[in-house]
Amino acid sequence: MSDPVTNKPDLDDSTNVNVDAAAAERENHMFTEGAEPLSLWVILGSAIVVLIGGGVLFGGHVFDYKNFVKKGYVREKAPDDGAGGAKPKPAIAAYKAIGKKVYDSCSTCHQPAGEGNMSFPPLADSEWVTGPSMRPAMIILNGMHKPVTVNGKQYDGVMPTMGDGMDAKKLAGILNFIRNSFGNKADKLITVEMAEDAIAAAKERGSGPVSADELNEKYNRDLKGAELPMDTPVDPKTLEPATAAE
Ligand code: HEC
Repeated sequence: MSDPVTNKPDLDDSTNVNVDAAAAERENHMFTEGAEPLSLWVILGSAIVVLIGGGVLFGGHVFDYKNFVKKGYVREKAPDDGAGGAKPKPAIAAYKAIGKKVYDSCSTCHQPAGEGNMSFPPLADSEWVTGPSMRPAMIILNGMHKPVTVNGKQYDGVMPTMGDGMDAKKLAGILNFIRNSFGNKADKLITVEMAEDAIAAAKERGSGPVSADELNEKYNRDLKGAELPMDTPVDPKTLEPATAAE
């Protein structure tokens, strides 16, 4: 140390800075930050949360969730939960809705409104579409080739088979769609059962495109099956006639 007045070294001072610093270094350090005692309010607040939470979770009566809900409240079933029970639709509308989607695969050739063009025959106002129903069914399932006259105009192209992945529901759908769109009007509904008649006939015949002549010789008939009035309410997914209201 130095004398604050004279600013000269105090030669009698016995303090050894090195020794003192080493001693301080050996002491335990004390950290107090974060170790302050918890406030009583925090403890009480947490206790209340834990008590109520426990009451709700473990079925206590005081905080039972059910106490806050109207008695007899049951969630209503969604209108269309995919488990059947969808709202019934008139048969012709339900079949056509399925057929409309299938028609996306035809419209590149036969055009969106069935009007056809230079290379592809029209489906609008075509005897092949609205005539005996086995003929258009066989065309769709097998494809078609060789000359064909539609609306007084002759075409000679090749239509590929559209039968891949075509189940009876889709086939019935597309038949009803083309027979009742573009200004066409058929008098009967093509049911799933009738479409199955066509699928069986196509299976028996074997693959390869049909021709107009073959259709007229062998398939100039209506599809077989029980008739269903066009406005019968059916389930829009299964196409089953709707049963009496649940
Ligand atoms: C790649 C083009 C193409 C696609 C796709 C196609 N067709 Fe055709 N379709 C033709 C051609 C070409 C003919 C004429 C075949 C012939 O000359 O013998 C034809 C003929 C027809 C006929 C008979 C003639 C007429 O115009 O009435 C019907 C019915 C028919 N197609 C329905 C359909 C339906 C329904 C689909 C979809 C499921 C479909 N076609 C998909 C090209 C196509």
